[in-house]
Amino acid sequence: MKDAAPQTIYLRDYAPFDYVVDSVQLTFKLTPTATRVTSRIAFRPNPATTTRDFFLHGEQLRLIGARIDGKSIDPEITSTGLRCDVPDAPFVFEAEVEISPDTNTALEGLYMSGGMYCTQCEAEGFRKITFYPDRPDVMGVFTVRIESDLPVLLSNGNPVTSGDGWAEWHDPWPKPAYLFALVAGDLVNQPDTFTTMSGRDVDLNIWVRPGDEGKCAFGMKALKKSMKWDEDVYGREYDLDVFNIVAVDDFNMGAMENKGLNIFNSSAVLASPETSTDANFERIEAIIAHEYFHNWTGNRITCRDWFQLCLKEGLTVFRDQQFTGDMRGQAVKRINDAVVLRAHQFREDNGPLAHPVRPTSFVEINNFYTVTIYEKGAEIIGMLRRLVGPDAYEKALDLYFTRHDGDAATIEDWLKVFEDATGRDLTQFAKWYSQAGTPRVAVSEEYTDGTYTLTLRQHTPPTPGQDHKDALVIPVAVGLLNENGDEVVPTQLLELTQAEQSFTFGGLASRPIPSILRDLSAPVILEHEQTSARRAFLLAHDTDPFNKWDAGRTLAQDVLVAMVRDGATPDAAYLDGLAAVLRDDGLDPAFRALVLALPSEDDTAQALVDAGDTPDPSAIYDAHETLKLHIAQHLQDLLPRVYADMTVTAPYHPDADQAGKRTLGNGVLALLARIDGGRQAAAQYTAADNMTQQLAALATLLKAGKGAAELAKFEREWQDDRLVMDKWFGLQVSCAAPDAAVQTAQKLTDHPAFTMKNPNRFRAVFGALAGNAAGFHHPSGAGYALLADWLIKLDALNPQTTARMTAAFSTWRRYDAERQAMMRAALQRIADTPDLSRDTTEMVSRILD
Ligand code: PHE
Ligand code: ZN
Repeated sequence: MKDAAPQTIYLRDYAPFDYVVDSVQLTFKLTPTATRVTSRIAFRPNPATTTRDFFLHGEQLRLIGARIDGKSIDPEITSTGLRCDVPDAPFVFEAEVEISPDTNTALEGLYMSGGMYCTQCEAEGFRKITFYPDRPDVMGVFTVRIESDLPVLLSNGNPVTSGDGWAEWHDPWPKPAYLFALVAGDLVNQPDTFTTMSGRDVDLNIWVRPGDEGKCAFGMKALKKSMKWDEDVYGREYDLDVFNIVAVDDFNMGAMENKGLNIFNSSAVLASPETSTDANFERIEAIIAHEYFHNWTGNRITCRDWFQLCLKEGLTVFRDQQFTGDMRGQAVKRINDAVVLRAHQFREDNGPLAHPVRPTSFVEINNFYTVTIYEKGAEIIGMLRRLVGPDAYEKALDLYFTRHDGDAATIEDWLKVFEDATGRDLTQFAKWYSQAGTPRVAVSEEYTDGTYTLTLRQHTPPTPGQDHKDALVIPVAVGLLNENGDEVVPTQLLELTQAEQSFTFGGLASRPIPSILRDLSAPVILEHEQTSARRAFLLAHDTDPFNKWDAGRTLAQDVLVAMVRDGATPDAAYLDGLAAVLRDDGLDPAFRALVLALPSEDDTAQALVDAGDTPDPSAIYDAHETLKLHIAQHLQDLLPRVYADMTVTAPYHPDADQAGKRTLGNGVLALLARIDGGRQAAAQYTAADNMTQQLAALATLLKAGKGAAELAKFEREWQDDRLVMDKWFGLQVSCAAPDAAVQTAQKLTDHPAFTMKNPNRFRAVFGALAGNAAGFHHPSGAGYALLADWLIKLDALNPQTTARMTAAFSTWRRYDAERQAMMRAALQRIADTPDLSRDTTEMVSRILD
């Protein structure tokens, strides 16, 4: 069978399926290379459509036989599915197919990981399991029988019955095929229970491989907190008798919200103080919450088609961000989210991969699980909430849940509940979903006779396929300070709806100092020329924690740009401001750590691009190193004191307070190493009783060109722990000096524990290489060549992970002619690979165009 040329799918072509699924019965006879899947699906003609085309998706399936109403049929089979004539009345379709989970390295459909069977069906993986209308708007009630010798057999919904070598599950909630899941393995569980708000008891389990049972307790606590929070804050109750989570080592993404049976990348659920960092704990809590929250925003209300992906992802990210803010502190959470948004989403929105939060076309939907859909999608919801206020937001969400429960919904449905709940016209606001690119908002100010006028101008640069941009509704939170740092006008929400608009504030005693875009009230770039003195003033006095931090960040960025451009010495306003924050014991350590952290080298590259320069990654690296040395010297007297103050004497706990202290302590440790040559880092490494302290010390040593002994010791200590070894692989590459990074990565691929088949391990090495800016962009081009070599190899096994990682090349246009040519050549070499996957082909061609 010849593969058809990849097709582009368009939003405008949406049409419902011609048949409705009433029920689905599946039987799996599991064997590694010849699993038999039999299906019995009750269909009836869809009364809402007039055409009658019975096409079922199916890929890489060996059809054993098919029947309609008990009679054998001989359907037409292509590389994408099956078509046949069917009665114009309800009928039962049956099929038996054979599949080979053991050779499924793409990790999509049914596959094996460490001896267990597991599935990944979102977005279009169910079609690799059996013939089915594999689209989210076709929902059915599933009953599943699993036959296998393995002791633990799981699927969606509630357990029905089981016996020796088999188990049956029934999911009463109609669901699209992408939420189907099956797991079979030799697993152990951490059991617990949760009593819901209406008093129903739910059995909770986290299933892991034997040996990992000691790493489940934190995840279980996070799950129970998430269940409670969703009841308290959104009024959402869980709706099955059991909730299962399974940890899987080989997984392309973080985790998956399959109904009642969430499947997690083991890195996103397994945790212990000895093996996980504070950042790991925080991420695990957020991902468990995210997947759990999908039960309502994604599962009970799903998406009509994949163009509406942000309907579930944007909303669920927004909900998990709220949750983490409630658990760990809103201000620090908002800053962390802003760092990610700017570093990744703004970058995506500004390059060849820019796309609207609701795209209008795609070739491979897997390529659209992006920061734009997730993070910008969440920002849009945050803006809506700001614009209508928290009470109206709650009202609109209640309406959304009652009106659309059981639906496969659209963005129009979502916006309509806000319009109906608030009476607001959201026509202009809706453009946030269709218009790509990050808006820039330029600021000018005027002050006369007690009246202050703020003029805001919005402009969105063109993006691929979208030259013209309309004005958006941009909520801009503004407060005014006087020269003493008192807030004279508390935060107000301005609504910028025109290309240019002025806002006045009267009755002022003196010229105010504005604090604009507080809490990052919109995902936009603020263009506001300010002196470093004014930024230092805001760093010292702004009452909005986000803008206080952002003033420091902008100062640091300006310093770095000046250092790269003309070798300037760091501005004293910045260094003194930093010292004042660091010294201020009244400030949360986590917040102080954020102020102390520099923008990334990639951020500096972008700042230089914005200033009209061609960034040189080597020069940027040097400037960052020089600045860190200057900071260390300037703060020399303060650092030891702060480091000592951040000592945690209580037993390790991954809560926000302790974690904040460790983050600041470790930030200070890295600076101290520039003065003491790593003496304290070596001491911390030896004394550490938790991974956070151990890993930070090791990173500091490696960056100081030391730590060879510790690195070897670390390997001996942790060689049997897969997740810790991922850190060992990654750290060496991310901490390598620019001249050594490529060679380090290359050498690690020869390590016996390196494997391409495990995405975590592959990403540990090559994600770290792409993230080591000066190493990856080494003038020799060796970084580009090495990554391309390995992506080409990986594509044959795992297209999804390969395609995602090609994004490392997406900034090629920024650089000098030599680097551009080398990056283009690497991309072209990938593009020219025979039998390149559809996923990678689409990514590379978008990046090159
Ligand atoms: N839907 C998953 C999530 O956001 C992400 C995912 C997508 C996982 C595709 C696997 C495959 O939580
Ligand atoms: Zn999600």
